[in-house]
Amino acid sequence: MKILTVVGARPQFIKAAAVSDEIRKDNTEILVHTGQHYDENMSKVFFDELGIPKPDYNLGVGSGSHAQQTAQMMLGMEKVLLETQPDMVLLYGDTNSTLAGAITAAKLNIPIAHVEAGVRFHLMDMPEEQNRVVADHLSSLLFASTLLGQQNLLDEKVAGEVHNVGDVMYDALIRFGRIADGLDFEHFYKRLTPISHNLDKLDKNSGWYYCTSHRPENTDDKSKLENIFAALNELDAPVLFPAHPRIQSFVSSVYEKYPNIVFVQPVSYIDSVYFTKHAKKIVTDSGGLHKEAYLLGIPCVTVLRSGWEETKTGNWNVFVSPDKRAILDAVRNVTPDVSVARDQFGDGCSAKKIVGIVDGFAR
Ligand code: UD1
Repeated sequence: MKILTVVGARPQFIKAAAVSDEIRKDNTEILVHTGQHYDENMSKVFFDELGIPKPDYNLGVGSGSHAQQTAQMMLGMEKVLLETQPDMVLLYGDTNSTLAGAITAAKLNIPIAHVEAGVRFHLMDMPEEQNRVVADHLSSLLFASTLLGQQNLLDEKVAGEVHNVGDVMYDALIRFGRIADGLDFEHFYKRLTPISHNLDKLDKNSGWYYCTSHRPENTDDKSKLENIFAALNELDAPVLFPAHPRIQSFVSSVYEKYPNIVFVQPVSYIDSVYFTKHAKKIVTDSGGLHKEAYLLGIPCVTVLRSGWEETKTGNWNVFVSPDKRAILDAVRNVTPDVSVARDQFGDGCSAKKIVGIVDGFAR
């Protein structure tokens, strides 16, 4: 079977790393990188470190408005689909690359498999929610990560087949987490590229909070982002903060006001897993990171109106608004119930299940 996989943004590289090897055991995979993420530390480092095969096509789309970005991806993708004639298009998650892949494949009547289907934050003004709803309703095979995701799809009466296979990010976390476990603080510390001039604040003994923020709802209005920084600045240990390119120039202009925050360039996946695993707590607006925190058993405060509801099980995660007081209270008070099993995202063997079902679909 010829499967064409579309990736474009960081979380998709991680998911593809978990599934690609499994696909290639008995199938031909054509890997298309849309170029949505293009900086070395947003793209290349993931391919190198995670051993993802080199893309067969890079559409080189880069940044732009949502319409520009998505339209250019669709034009590039249409050419590739006509040239390669795959039996199925495999899409991950909810980025503009997912949306472009879904619409283009559907228009050419190529069946679509959507991994991480059925996620609903119930916020239709979020670009990711728009993308996932469209991708789900155009897909023939829908791979939900959780029971809730499966139920959302059944409630919406999607046309395709729905399967709850667990979360491929759990597969990746187990596999690459082992590599992180074999390396020490010094190794990861040396790899950090500082933006602020306080990297020496970070040391193994005092511990750290690990934080990220890149969502437009928190970063477009810089007063919200400063509320987040102001809260992090008051925490009782240094805060390691890899800054997404979207906020870097702003960070460079304000970091001196927040001496407790160690701002660095975006880190690679294995580095991020290490700093998450050993963090006191996580503060983030990333969908992937609040899920990883839950899977690793690290308490998390998610600065979003809504997210992966499953991570609230056992009080491992709370959602708060970008308000200084609310963030500080949440970070101080988030107290997980360790007696509750953290089993919402399957068993870490999702890739095998996905490829088994995809292979069966073709016959
Ligand atoms: C995208 C996804 C988001 C995901 C995130 C992971 C959409 C709608 N959003 O958001 O769901 O959580 O990826 O990181 O697809 N930029 C660079 N270099 C890069 C990439 C981006 O400088 O390599 C800058 C550009 O200024 C760009 C901005 O970051 O305009 C935003 O990038 P974009 O890909 O549009 O969205 P993300 O915020 O990364």
